[in-house]
Amino acid sequence: MENIIKNLNIVVVDDDPAIRHVCYSILKKNFVNVITFDNGLDALSHIKENYTDIVLVDLKMPKMDGHELIGKITELDKDIVIIVITAYASIENAIEAMQKGVSDFLPKPFTPDELRLAIKKAADKRELIIQKAKALKEKREMEENYLSFVSHQLKSPLFAAQQLLYLLEEGDYNIEADVLSIIKRANKRINEATKLVNEWLLVSRLEKSGFSGNFTETDVIGLINSEIERYNEQIQAKDIKVYKEMPEYFNVETDPSAFSMVISNLISNAIKYNKKGGKIFIRVNEIGEYLKLEIEDTGIGIDKEYIPRLFSKFFRIRNEKTKNIEGTGLGLVIIKKIVDEHNGSIEVESEEDKGTKFTILIPQRHHKSNPNNN
Ligand SMILES: Nc1ncnc2c1ncn2[C@@H]1O[C@H](COP(=O)(O)OP(=O)(O)OP(=O)(O)O)[C@@H](O)[C@H]1O
Ligand SMILES: [Mg+2]
Repeated sequence: MENIIKNLNIVVVDDDPAIRHVCYSILKKNFVNVITFDNGLDALSHIKENYTDIVLVDLKMPKMDGHELIGKITELDKDIVIIVITAYASIENAIEAMQKGVSDFLPKPFTPDELRLAIKKAADKRELIIQKAKALKEKREMEENYLSFVSHQLKSPLFAAQQLLYLLEEGDYNIEADVLSIIKRANKRINEATKLVNEWLLVSRLEKSGFSGNFTETDVIGLINSEIERYNEQIQAKDIKVYKEMPEYFNVETDPSAFSMVISNLISNAIKYNKKGGKIFIRVNEIGEYLKLEIEDTGIGIDKEYIPRLFSKFFRIRNEKTKNIEGTGLGLVIIKKIVDEHNGSIEVESEEDKGTKFTILIPQRHHKSNPNNN
């Protein structure tokens, strides 16, 4: 029989040294990487650490029996192809093993050709599984690229349309007030579309190539103050009071524009989802080696059942209270990605009709530890 497949990684688990020896010597001759174990525990720790294509398992073994091992392997990676070698292939055993994802049986004793044939069949199956996974991955990537491609293509016509509308708004055309208000509304809608396109492009870039931030020593208080300033009009319009509880300076190793984006999205939410005459508290503290930033509002709050979904793409709570509030549902996704890149954490506490508090922890020095992992 010709060589099975080069570089196939096979694990043989059998407490019978004769079987291990036979499998090893036959398979080795066929350019296969083969390793044998006399018990399930050692085999499992090997499979955990090493790329494995096919496992041959004996059912009756001390310590961990074959059934348990099969269960553990499929839990670990359901794409590993499993062959059972057994002298006692009772129907019940076979059914149980098949249900657990075993693809073939090799009854003992077997001839070298029978072994090779079983491995050949398993190798074909494995190849098919790998090809399928590859095709699926390519399809997913294509879909993602397609979305960013379309977003890119949308950018310039949107920008051009917006420029024209600004020209009508600002220019000297003697446009009647009611027409002007329609133009302004159209411009606002285009603004929303531009924001969606930009946020979507940012999310796909962060997902694809991660975050290429420029971490530098930055006074975040300055950034926070200028973001509050930027939202001044909306804060006034809703008669909101902003309370700042923060030191005069606070230096953190961060990417200033990414940090501003985090603050900006949180302040924007604290305004949008606040009530008229509401309050916003912005607190900055030092907790050990972390910067702790809290942004709390006295707004509409968030129903507990939605909290786990807040950081999912395009998720927005839709109800009577939110139906007139605009947004794309990407703000918190972006915040979470930026915080993760800082090896930080973000938490939400909220009570319906009372308000919401977002708490962010990020290390003052940019390093690898994550407070979530402690
Ligand atoms: N402070 C808050 N109070 C109440 N609900 C909030 C608050 N912040 C976020 N939410 C809820 O979480 C959802 C997701 O927030 P996120 O900031 O990701 O998106 P958005 O504000 O809807 O749109 P975008 O930020 O992209 O413009 C919001 O639609 C809102 O329902
Ligand atoms: Mg938002």
